[in-house]
Amino acid sequence: MKSQDRAVMRVLAGEKLWPPPIWMMRQAGRYLPEYRKVRAKAKNFLDFCYSPDLATEVTLQPIRRYGFDASILFSDIFVVPDAIGYPVRFEEGRGPVLEPLSSDLLNRLEQDKAEDHLKPVIETVSRLRAELPEETTLLGFCGAPWTVACYSVAGHTTQDQVAARVGAYRDPDLMQRFIDQLIEASISYLIRQLDAGADAVQIFDTWAGVLDEAGFKRWSIEPTRQIVEGVRAVRPDAKIIGFPKASSARMIAYIDGTGVDAVGFDWTAPDQVALDVQKRVPIQGNLDPMRLVAGGKALEDGVGHVLSTFDKGPLIFNLGHGVTPDADPENVARMVELVRKG
Ligand code: CP3
Repeated sequence: MKSQDRAVMRVLAGEKLWPPPIWMMRQAGRYLPEYRKVRAKAKNFLDFCYSPDLATEVTLQPIRRYGFDASILFSDIFVVPDAIGYPVRFEEGRGPVLEPLSSDLLNRLEQDKAEDHLKPVIETVSRLRAELPEETTLLGFCGAPWTVACYSVAGHTTQDQVAARVGAYRDPDLMQRFIDQLIEASISYLIRQLDAGADAVQIFDTWAGVLDEAGFKRWSIEPTRQIVEGVRAVRPDAKIIGFPKASSARMIAYIDGTGVDAVGFDWTAPDQVALDVQKRVPIQGNLDPMRLVAGGKALEDGVGHVLSTFDKGPLIFNLGHGVTPDADPENVARMVELVRKG
């Protein structure tokens, strides 16, 4: 099957399909017992991402179990800073830990290292394309520079990104230098994923929503625009999904400013805002992942609402953010069943 004939690709090209195609952010993850089994084999999380055998296996697990219409490469947004020599590690029970951003550290980054370093991830992409059902869309991804940078300023996960916001106000030049390095590395990384068989790519900007107007333009829109432009310079037809979380009020500015083909909404987006956007570009989303934890009527109502609200244009059914470890795999099966009924 040609890439453009796969359901998710048809919607990304602007077609409305009903029932809509479905996939789930973080679909390979700890809510699945089979994921936890494979995860236990890897010394640490980054090694797991760099093991084509393990990464291919866990990427395929949710496809086997649920038959999602898209598969997303199993990796992480931190493989990009890691590949250019930014010190990053994962601690069990704590998540990512990065060395605080400094000028000295930036002087030590090496773009030329990235290609070799990311070879195992690119190999995973090729293997996936060979092993996936032919109708399944394969998505590659990267983190948006701002979201990656948030963790490097704070050093770890925070809820409001206070450290990154203060850092960007105090020393915008330092932030810009790091963002520029991430832009450069992300462009070649996405192009290589597309060359290896990814049908489309998604840019995750999880922390775009903490920025003020000027910050959103400079740190979310502008770096994303440069990535989109850089990828399209080599791959003019590349389909790119943007996911600036908690940014629904700025979605039109984001689309106009970045040139992405489609956007993902989180669950807090007002319906009317997403409906207006859907008149211009395909949208993806936006079930609250907590409905997969609660199940029952909450799940049925939530799925029903997304379907009945966004049935007027191109929709890729998804969650408003990643599925959480406490979601019940049976609820995921129920969600897929409800969506497939249309
Ligand atoms: O969606 C998928 O199934 C593909 C794989 C994927 C992962 N992370 C695997 C992962 C993707 C697309 C990501 C993106 C990612 N990673 C984002 C953007 C999207 C989002 O969720 O906001 C961000 C901010 C990260 C950074 C990250 N990775 C954090 C903060 C953590 C620790 C928190 C946690 O959930 O443990 C991770 C680890 C991580 N990335 C896990 C998975 C499955 C869990 C780690 C484990 O299994 O030990």
